[in-house]
Amino acid sequence: MPTIATKLIRWQTQHGRHHLPWQGTRDPYAIWLSEIMLQQTQVITVIPYYQRFIQRFPSIAHLALAPQDDVLACWSGLGYYSRARNLSHAAQIIRQDYQSKFPQSIELIQELPGIGRSTAAAIAVFAFGQYAAILDGNVKRVFTRYFGIDGYPGKADVQKQLWHKANACLPKKTANQSIETYTQALMDLGSIVCTRSKPDCTSCPLQHNCVAHQENCTDKLPSPKPRKQLPKKETIFLMLIKQNKILLEKRPPSGIWGGLWCPLEISTSENTIAYCQQTYGLEVRPLGNISPLDHTFTHFKLKIHPHLLQVVSPNDALLQKGKWMALDDALESAIPTPVRKLLKRVILTDLVKTNG
Ligand code: ADE
Ligand code: SF4
Repeated sequence: MPTIATKLIRWQTQHGRHHLPWQGTRDPYAIWLSEIMLQQTQVITVIPYYQRFIQRFPSIAHLALAPQDDVLACWSGLGYYSRARNLSHAAQIIRQDYQSKFPQSIELIQELPGIGRSTAAAIAVFAFGQYAAILDGNVKRVFTRYFGIDGYPGKADVQKQLWHKANACLPKKTANQSIETYTQALMDLGSIVCTRSKPDCTSCPLQHNCVAHQENCTDKLPSPKPRKQLPKKETIFLMLIKQNKILLEKRPPSGIWGGLWCPLEISTSENTIAYCQQTYGLEVRPLGNISPLDHTFTHFKLKIHPHLLQVVSPNDALLQKGKWMALDDALESAIPTPVRKLLKRVILTDLVKTNG
């Protein structure tokens, strides 16, 4: 069975990119610059900037001696300007500590400002032919799908698994396989074939062993960033029932559920029965339980405690809000989803009759 490296290398030779401006050179400065520009920016956007930049600052010494304003001006429009400041700073370090000669060891490369583990490895591969694993965003996507690795790739344990795989997949030096072609293959596959949405698995050299493709779950991997814990709030809904009708009020136009019909809402610190008596002059009797309902908004979670109450007092003159609606009519009105769920639960209690 051919290894993943063999398949990738064969695919890159036939279908990969071979004429990018930073290919066909071993100049570590040119490669470093391209890798930094490509960190947060698409190839197509980078190309003209890369060409202008390298013309304006043709060597590490030129860059080191240039005023940072000039460097930033040349970067202007690419965004993420800390990349340009780090580039300037790193060039000065290389000029002073390494006589303007780019260091070769991955550890030293990684110590330079703006260069992380994957970028250091990419430079070492393309400039010096070292056998080192890269793991940028594209490669993480390929590996999480190919190996079926669950969990957000930004998490430390997932990251660890991915680095382990990235190292295990490297071509063998002894097999005389090109580490440059292999590394470019991963980059090219990630940006051309194994794209974030709708990967083109039928053109992928890895399709036969790819877990995500075989299990038809490419849309689930890589796992998305877990959402922050949302603040939790609780509230009481007064589900007031009179002659098989429920009291709903139209919410003011702004705020949650603006303009929609909802039961009256009171704070969980209130005593429901006393509140109905004191605020509305209503005698109410509890009508059995409805379990609480959880609803998630973009910014918080709401636990709704529905209190189902039969109105037993003959008059509700103090109640100057809301509208008594038959349950069927209420379900046909403009009501938010949680209210719809609650009304259906009320119907299921069988304590309140519907129209039909
Ligand atoms: N993305 C990051 N590095 C790249 C490279 N060398 N070629 C194409 N895309 C890349
Ligand atoms: Fe990505 Fe599909 Fe290839 Fe798997 S088969 S690596 S999901 S393109």
